[in-house]
Amino acid sequence: MREFVFATHNHNKMREIQSLMPDDIKLLSLDDIKCFEDIEETEATIEGNAILKANYIKEKYGYNVFADDTGLEVKALGGQPGVYSARYAGNHKSDADNVQLLLRNMEGKTNREAQFKTVIALCLDDATYVFEGIVKGIITNTSVGTNGFGYDPVFQPNGFSETFAQLPLATKNEIGHRGKAFKKLLDFLENY
Ligand code: IMP
Repeated sequence: MREFVFATHNHNKMREIQSLMPDDIKLLSLDDIKCFEDIEETEATIEGNAILKANYIKEKYGYNVFADDTGLEVKALGGQPGVYSARYAGNHKSDADNVQLLLRNMEGKTNREAQFKTVIALCLDDATYVFEGIVKGIITNTSVGTNGFGYDPVFQPNGFSETFAQLPLATKNEIGHRGKAFKKLLDFLENY
């Protein structure tokens, strides 16, 4: 049995990703390895923060580990909120606050192009590997739908007339940023 830490405290994410893993891989959460400290995301890029989190766990706890980081990049805003997606409206603000600020900053903008990007950093033995998943779409004019979380109600993927918050989760997983990045990780681990 191979063991990997998935650098998250989120049990839903853990369960979801464990169910996708090959049978010989067991995932441990940060809670499982008793890592309760906040790992500060101080890098200027999504990729940098994924690598920072994975390196931190590998160096301090010694496990093989993967960490993910996600951001929404909006063309008309020069790639913002990007690495600041979680705290766009401020440190202790809600998803709804972030969405509201985004819609406000997009008022009057004709170019609505955006993309979600997930980067997964894997520290395995002495090497670090990076896997990226991107989905392109547009920012809608209003918030629509109740599925999902974060910026889902204002992101309409290309080829669809609904937002991520209107589409079934299975569709989002299939075409979405996180699903694509994890598929690359799984392919890599299955063949390693
Ligand atoms: P994290 O790296 O997964 O913590 O994501 C950073 C921020 O990006 C979150 O706080 C969400 O606001 C946003 N985000 C991440 N993934 C998604 C998604 O799949 N849909 C909508 N928003 C997301």
